[in-house]
Amino acid sequence: MEISNFDLSIWRGDANGGDLVSYRVPVREGMVVLDAVLWVQANMASDLAVRWNCKAAKCGSCSAEIQGFPRLMCKTPITEYGSQVTVGPMKAFPVIKDLVTDVSWNYKVNKEIPPFTPSEKDLASSEPWRMQQQDVERVMEFRKCIECFLCQDVCHVLRAHDLKSAFYGPRSMVRIASLEMHPKDVLDRRPLLKGNAGIGYCNVTKCCTEVCPEHIHITDNAIIPLKERMDDEYFDPIRSIVRLFRRKAGKPTA
Ligand code: SF4
Ligand code: SF4
Ligand code: FES
Repeated sequence: MEISNFDLSIWRGDANGGDLVSYRVPVREGMVVLDAVLWVQANMASDLAVRWNCKAAKCGSCSAEIQGFPRLMCKTPITEYGSQVTVGPMKAFPVIKDLVTDVSWNYKVNKEIPPFTPSEKDLASSEPWRMQQQDVERVMEFRKCIECFLCQDVCHVLRAHDLKSAFYGPRSMVRIASLEMHPKDVLDRRPLLKGNAGIGYCNVTKCCTEVCPEHIHITDNAIIPLKERMDDEYFDPIRSIVRLFRRKAGKPTA
């Protein structure tokens, strides 16, 4: 049932620049922002570029900035915004066209994270692996990530300072946490965290946690425990002395 009309301002443009364009959209009960954008595409602007797939908040494709706040378009009812709303592309990534951004950098850094690595003994064993339920639950939270990259978009290190060459961002911290805290993984990714992943750039503002549509406790459950492991390894005075001796003896240190 048609209830009323609604002003939808969509950023239109490409890498060379663009501007907001207003569209009058008929509102239907239960309509989300993605419905309104697709209505514009079907009825008023067939060249409007928008990325989406599941319309169920599960594929992570329809990330955008709604009233300047990173959200999934398919999970955002337009009734939250009165009679007007503005939709734009994520600002932390290069625009391709309209609402579509180039998020390929995230996949590039993802490849730099060493994958799940069990011990030789576990690999050779024909027995089922046994794990504590609480260990399983701890990493299950991280596996809910749908790679929407909204957390990357809101993170000031990537967004305001564009430090992509120095910091992998919160989504990657979630992936690293899922591996580091896996009870059957034996690889030590702390050198990566200290080096290329740049965890030291995170100052725990928690903005990433606020925007996560999967409600992953990115800072409390992933980043802070990873930082604590880093502190134990790199800022514990006894370990520092051991590392100093190893360096002097020409032995490898992390
Ligand atoms: S808590 Fe860290 S990773 Fe998350 S938004 Fe803030 S600086 Fe970025
Ligand atoms: S951690 Fe949350 S906000 Fe970040 S990419 Fe995954 S689902 Fe999206
Ligand atoms: S369309 Fe899949 S998350 Fe929105």
